[in-house]
Amino acid sequence: MIVFEKATELNQFLAREREKGKTVGFVPTMGALHNGHISLINKARNENSMVVASVFVNPTQFNNAEDLKKYPRTIEADKALLEENGCDVLFFPSVEEIYPEKDNTVFDLGGLDTLMEGKFRPGHFNGVAMVVKRLFQIVQPEHAYFGEKDFQQLAIIRYMVSSEKLPVNIISCPTLRESSGLAMSSRNMRLTKEEKVEAAAIYRALLEAKENAKTLQPHEVKEIFEQSISQNSAFKFEYFEIVDSENLLPVKEWNPQRKATGCVAVWIRDVRLIDNLLIFP
Ligand code: PAJ
Repeated sequence: MIVFEKATELNQFLAREREKGKTVGFVPTMGALHNGHISLINKARNENSMVVASVFVNPTQFNNAEDLKKYPRTIEADKALLEENGCDVLFFPSVEEIYPEKDNTVFDLGGLDTLMEGKFRPGHFNGVAMVVKRLFQIVQPEHAYFGEKDFQQLAIIRYMVSSEKLPVNIISCPTLRESSGLAMSSRNMRLTKEEKVEAAAIYRALLEAKENAKTLQPHEVKEIFEQSISQNSAFKFEYFEIVDSENLLPVKEWNPQRKATGCVAVWIRDVRLIDNLLIFP
């Protein structure tokens, strides 16, 4: 695996590879890699002749300085894991390399950025759009891979790529879970063994919501979910929304023509966890 820290060097290297007929599959990450990330690498490897990953803890998407400071950084383990899994190129830039000067771009994200995560993390998705656009300009991939784990992020990246007319295909990948059902996440590293056991209740509540959606109305499903999470003293509940899987608007009643996804955010101590599940149909 070749590691690049400079954008122009990576860009020139990839231009030469593309001339040889290689297609590039790109997996952007913030590191602290786990099997969820690796599932994206595997899909990219199967669908492209060259796989590029990036590890960059993007400061512009953190709305809380403490959260940025605490974000796990495990670059040596990340390099080994990427190498083992057949990643060809790693882009590991510094903050100065990505943001040589302050970037004040404000993206129109079609209002998708004002719901759910956007409400609780103002500016977060603008920072995500900013870094992903820059990374796409540097790497110019044919395909880029994103996890359904970050459901709203995926919708926003699709929106940004279409409104900015960026020549890249966005490929979504299913959420990988621990055997307990807990969605894999870099943030899980900060949980104790006991907290990880508690955290698996999030997925159980989502499964219960999916079951309840067969017989109850959305607002009832929502109430039961909120009660079950709020009653658990391990959690501080933030939100649970049942939204249209395409446009992310709140679902008031089930429509057999439309899919609905349940999206949740909770805190365990000072660790914020998000998850989601298709709950209708
Ligand atoms: P990060 O949280 O590192 O995630 C990188 C990619 O891995 C994202 O597309 C995310 O959805 C996916 N992913 C994370 N956990 C997963 C799981 N359990 N199963 C499947 N895929 C999973 O998301 C980001 O970084 C950043 O916002 C980024 C897009 C890199 C921009 O900075």
